[in-house]
Amino acid sequence: MKHLLGTEHLGYDEALQILDTAETMAQTQDRALKKLPTLRGKIVANLFFEDSTRTRLSFETAAERLSADTLDFSASGSSVSKGESLKDTVLTLSAMGADAFVIRHSASGAADRLAHAGWVDIPVINAGDGTHEHPTQALLDAYTLRREFHDDPIGRDLADRHIVIVGDILHSRVARSNIHLLSTLGAKVTVVAPPTLLPTSMVNWPCGVMFSLDEAIAEGPDAVMMLRVQKERMSAAGGGFFPTLAEYHRIYGLTAERLAELPEQCIVMHPGPMNRGLEISAAAADSPRSRAVDQVRAGVFVRMAVLYLLVASTETPER
Ligand code: CP
Repeated sequence: MKHLLGTEHLGYDEALQILDTAETMAQTQDRALKKLPTLRGKIVANLFFEDSTRTRLSFETAAERLSADTLDFSASGSSVSKGESLKDTVLTLSAMGADAFVIRHSASGAADRLAHAGWVDIPVINAGDGTHEHPTQALLDAYTLRREFHDDPIGRDLADRHIVIVGDILHSRVARSNIHLLSTLGAKVTVVAPPTLLPTSMVNWPCGVMFSLDEAIAEGPDAVMMLRVQKERMSAAGGGFFPTLAEYHRIYGLTAERLAELPEQCIVMHPGPMNRGLEISAAAADSPRSRAVDQVRAGVFVRMAVLYLLVASTETPER
């Protein structure tokens, strides 16, 4: 594996290798000295053309924990505002010594373009491209689920688990990456959304579809993953995806009443950032079932694993 661009084509063994490596990385958490020397001398360039809190900071933390140096680029405040292209931005950071690129971009396919355009010949990790994929989010979600359901998660998958993903599937790269990865790991995946928030392309995706959250909860899932209503992408598309925010909350929100209906083993997940009071109530977000903070913690270990597996053995490129 040279790049990590998505989970659609990530194999079972590759996924388990990343998750098992993340378990090893997690063992550093309780040490007085949390750093490993693994990437000493390497430079990880974090290219963020879209806003981020969790992904950006955890990639920076992961690189630092592995003793890499980082080039932390965000489009706001950069020469992108003067019209500089993706290619010229990449060539600029490459000239400063980047050994790997982590990229978040509003355009679906941006990470693939960077990996295959021939501008550079170093690993590319997709940190979220448009509505396409967000593979490290799905991997940290799978890590969280494995930890939940196995005392010793090493080598274990998610066979026979039922994960329900709820909400704005249309705009969600998190949903797409999770549907592919969780099904590769053996889970049954069901998405729940209004018809207006389901992409037509998902007819070929490995998941079931339901339109009623109450009916999905009645099936006794092991986890419900609530997705952010992406109001900014809806506004850009002209709106009209559902009548009102209040109605969305009533029909598709994880309200306190629905929280009480979840089966005993069922956990609540959310990739963040949350719209409290819209897709998830404060009662659900703050409940003992919520794993939102655990998901963030897992993100550092998973991103350490991905950087280690992709970057540790690479030669520094000729420039
Ligand atoms: N889950 C996620 O990608 O969050 P950020 O946008 O804050 O990185």
